[in-house]
Amino acid sequence: MSKLCLTGIQPTGKLHLGNYFGAVKPLISLSQDTEFEDIFIFVANLHALNSIKDPVLLHTYTQDIVIDYLAMGLDLTKTSLFLQSDIRELTELTWIFNNLVTVSYLERSHAYKDAIANGKEANMGLFDYPVLMAADILLYQSSVVPVGQDQKQHIEIAQKIADKFNARYGELFIKPKPYIQSDTSIVKGLDGRKMSKSYHNTIEIFESEDTIRSKISKIITDSKAPHEPKDPDSCNILALYRLFASEQEINQIETQYREGSISYKESKDILAEAILTYFKPIRTRRQELLSQPVYVQDILHQGTLKAQSIAQNTMEKVRKAVGLMS
Ligand code: ADP
Ligand code: TRP
Repeated sequence: MSKLCLTGIQPTGKLHLGNYFGAVKPLISLSQDTEFEDIFIFVANLHALNSIKDPVLLHTYTQDIVIDYLAMGLDLTKTSLFLQSDIRELTELTWIFNNLVTVSYLERSHAYKDAIANGKEANMGLFDYPVLMAADILLYQSSVVPVGQDQKQHIEIAQKIADKFNARYGELFIKPKPYIQSDTSIVKGLDGRKMSKSYHNTIEIFESEDTIRSKISKIITDSKAPHEPKDPDSCNILALYRLFASEQEINQIETQYREGSISYKESKDILAEAILTYFKPIRTRRQELLSQPVYVQDILHQGTLKAQSIAQNTMEKVRKAVGLMS
């Protein structure tokens, strides 16, 4: 079997520039990478149930994220896209794993401890989150799992569960490796802090052009007058512009900053145009996809079939191994 690279994306909100540069763009490049012959990307809607209790919102975010990722250029010749909840074997495997993992081990999860410290309800879904994620990874015999730094411990939990299962019932699972891109830098938000939904400082990729312009006009700067020299290194506008501009364009605007020949208003206008130009083809593609629901459903269907066939195969072996089937 070829080496499988798998990742899950939680449908918990609209994609912003931080998500794009920190997660989506690296994943798209990976999907075009020749090293991986098979890539599984699924929408982790069962995980998202823990934070989104509004059914209409969960459904909308799920549909949105599928279209967003497709619009951004996944290589569909080797990428299978599907919804986590469409593979019923997953929750069965989670239950089997639940009988191998101790409460004290899961209590050490950083994500769980942080969530509780931040006042989240300590429900079983939150506690069991890493076990469901381990099942996501192991069910498809994934070798490589691209994730953000914050998910590293979850991969270690999956490795531990694979070891425990293999030791108890015989070698059945591949031990997955995390793929963590350490060179992806943090994208700053409108207020200069990390761009994040929780800080309400985001620029969403697919909001209207007017909203994008209006948000950019609100980027926080110091109060230097239009003709005063400005510091390009501490400017929140330029921090974003660097993601979109060529080296030559960046040099040019930095010189204008130092000379005091450009106002913040002008550099915000330049940034807005750069963002809109960069995302124009993706936004157009997204509009097209919105009018092709059958095509989108078909991609999900193909992805589900492929994932299901591996999941069924694994579960047959698991059921036999643990004694649920002869
Ligand atoms: P948010 O902080 O808005 O809730 P998420 O935690 O849902 O974002 O992030 C989803 C993915 O996007 C993660 O892989 C995360 O590393 C990446 N990401 C989010 N915000 C940023 C940012 N400001 N800069 C770089 N990457 C980010
Ligand atoms: N927990 C991951 C996140 O919040 C999403 C996720 C769920 C995932 N299952 C996965 C990622 C399996 C990689 C593999 O980002």
